[in-house]
Amino acid sequence: MSLASTEAATEIIAAERSDSYASTARVERLLARFHQIRNFTNVLCLGLEPEDYVVQSMPDVSPTKWHLAHTTWFFETFILKKFLPGYRAEVPEYAYLFNSYYNAAGDMHRRDLRGLISRPTVKEAQRYRASIDSHIDALLSDIDEKLLDQVEPILVLGIHHEQQHQELLTTDIKHVFAQNPLYPVFRKPKISAESSAIPPQRFIEFEQATVAIGHDGRGFAYDNEGPRHQALVPAFSLASRPVTNGEYIAFIEDNGYTRSEFWLSLGWMTVNEQRWQAPLYWTKRDGAWWNFTLSGFRPVNKSEPVTHVSYFEADAYANWAGVRLPTEFEWERAASECTIEGNFAESEIFHPRSVAVASAVSADRPAQNQHLHQIFGDVWEWTRSAYSPYPGYRVAPGALGEYNGKFMCNQYVLRGGSCATSRSHMRRTYRNFFQPEKRWQFTGIRLARDPQ
Ligand SMILES: [Fe+2]
Repeated sequence: MSLASTEAATEIIAAERSDSYASTARVERLLARFHQIRNFTNVLCLGLEPEDYVVQSMPDVSPTKWHLAHTTWFFETFILKKFLPGYRAEVPEYAYLFNSYYNAAGDMHRRDLRGLISRPTVKEAQRYRASIDSHIDALLSDIDEKLLDQVEPILVLGIHHEQQHQELLTTDIKHVFAQNPLYPVFRKPKISAESSAIPPQRFIEFEQATVAIGHDGRGFAYDNEGPRHQALVPAFSLASRPVTNGEYIAFIEDNGYTRSEFWLSLGWMTVNEQRWQAPLYWTKRDGAWWNFTLSGFRPVNKSEPVTHVSYFEADAYANWAGVRLPTEFEWERAASECTIEGNFAESEIFHPRSVAVASAVSADRPAQNQHLHQIFGDVWEWTRSAYSPYPGYRVAPGALGEYNGKFMCNQYVLRGGSCATSRSHMRRTYRNFFQPEKRWQFTGIRLARDPQ
């Protein structure tokens, strides 16, 4: 072949490559996002000692080390094993150890025994993360457009999955530290322990309307946020801010925990069995309420939103107050015009902000947001809506179809995100869900009522 024809052939190959190879900008954007989120997991672990990574303080809690490895397993199982030619797992047993609940991906280790796993060590789990990250780099550095079209949605799902586990890692380590009489500090306090003047709770009225509920398909969303559909939302009012610790103490002092008339039957059973007398992490000392926070043990601040309450407690509080919890449709309608901003994980406070401070800050926001304070961030807000499929919802085939659909039973929807949720993980249509007795997430209360 002559020099000229070699050059021509090279040009043809280059032209074909530029047609079929994924654009550098697209790959770089995706990889930058991937590494940014993976790195935030490492940021959360700053200050933890190897001993902290292994404890499982109750079956709902997973050890930090397990979160590190399981989020990594997700990328290995659903991307590398499927799309990287010749990929072989360095430790095949991790497939069993770090599968959470995906039956279609094979057998799995028992969830309640995760704290018994001293091996792999923390160092080995970190090495596993680094190894999978470099394989993802390798896969994406040499990928054609068609393959990237297949890989990208799963990679983005994996990124959001990791963000969900970042929140769990935070709430799980809080539960672990709370068991320790030394009350370890996860982050130095960034917020004042002083109670400040609390703005009055007002009720914002909404007229009856038929509104679009669910994600509109622009950008990422979980499958449970769709299909978008029309829903009739009768007239209602929504509280201007979350319920505070001070208000919740009034419920406690009015014997709220011992008066059956406020409680659902299942809630009343739970309260008595568990001997609940206050939110999780609260203790009474010398006549005053104290609570364990990620910044240590400290007096309850009356101007902060109450948190670590179950659905049962939220519902009982609303009954005591003579009102109710909102439906998820009312919540989504009210939040549809609010800016998604607030106290999220990125601020690294990891505790709800006082309603006085938040209201002062939000006075600078656009007019439509001034009525509803702290609707995003701080605390997840329990709704009275059972977690069930929207009209037309279909579970996707395969293992990833197990992500959301199979949990649509015996759980309630929560909205708005918390101080442990990442801002970049939040959407107005986001549906979180937990069983009604769970309290270890940053869960709180916003009241609603029917027209007067
Ligand atoms: Fe997971």
